[in-house]
Amino acid sequence: MKIIAGNWKMNGTKQNLEKMIQDLSNVETNNKIILCVPFTMLCTESGKIGLGAQDISMHTHGAYTGEISAQMVAATGAKYVIIGHSECRQYHGDTNSTVRAKAELAIANGLIPIICVGETMDEKQAGKTMEIIESGVRESVPSDISTPIIIAYEPRWAIGAGLTPTSTEIADAHTLIANTLTDMGLDGTPILYGASVKGTNAAEIMSIPNVGGVLVGGASLKSDDFIPIITSVN
Ligand code: PGA
Repeated sequence: MKIIAGNWKMNGTKQNLEKMIQDLSNVETNNKIILCVPFTMLCTESGKIGLGAQDISMHTHGAYTGEISAQMVAATGAKYVIIGHSECRQYHGDTNSTVRAKAELAIANGLIPIICVGETMDEKQAGKTMEIIESGVRESVPSDISTPIIIAYEPRWAIGAGLTPTSTEIADAHTLIANTLTDMGLDGTPILYGASVKGTNAAEIMSIPNVGGVLVGGASLKSDDFIPIITSVN
């Protein structure tokens, strides 16, 4: 069983989501399917598919115009929330410490956070990939937790770029994350790979040790692209 999570980013409408849910309802799979969609679509009946948000506020409530709290997301029936996505780190100023605060709020409200870590191209070229990944996990993941969380390794330079690291690079990153999580008492936490996953590379990526599934952006928007990823593994 793998976790196949879609990240719709700022795309689609409730009608698109309803069609996707309909299309996915006929797919035979043992994998866990999650769709992380814009807030406006969260109150959609989704059957076996888990719905998630793509971010939450780092505050609980109050005078934060335009923000959405963990409690509000949980009240829609959503079960998941992506935290610390590369685009939230780049455009909304998320840092490891705000990511950790948001993840704590997600957990406190019964959501499963999908916590993203990964290196930029500059960090990769400076030979800092492993350092950034390890500090990302140690600083972004709350300690002393007993409820499930999910980690996503997303090399930031590869997102939406049609680029992927080599299998060895993915294996090294996931092994480091798994060992770091074990050291933090979080053995067995699923670790997804994300960035330019498609039907043509999904099976190979998910055969790499410590890859518990994938987080898919562009290829999760249309069922013709998403279903081959779901059915590429069992
Ligand atoms: P991509 O995005 O699959 O379009 O590269 C992945 C992500 O941002 O989660």
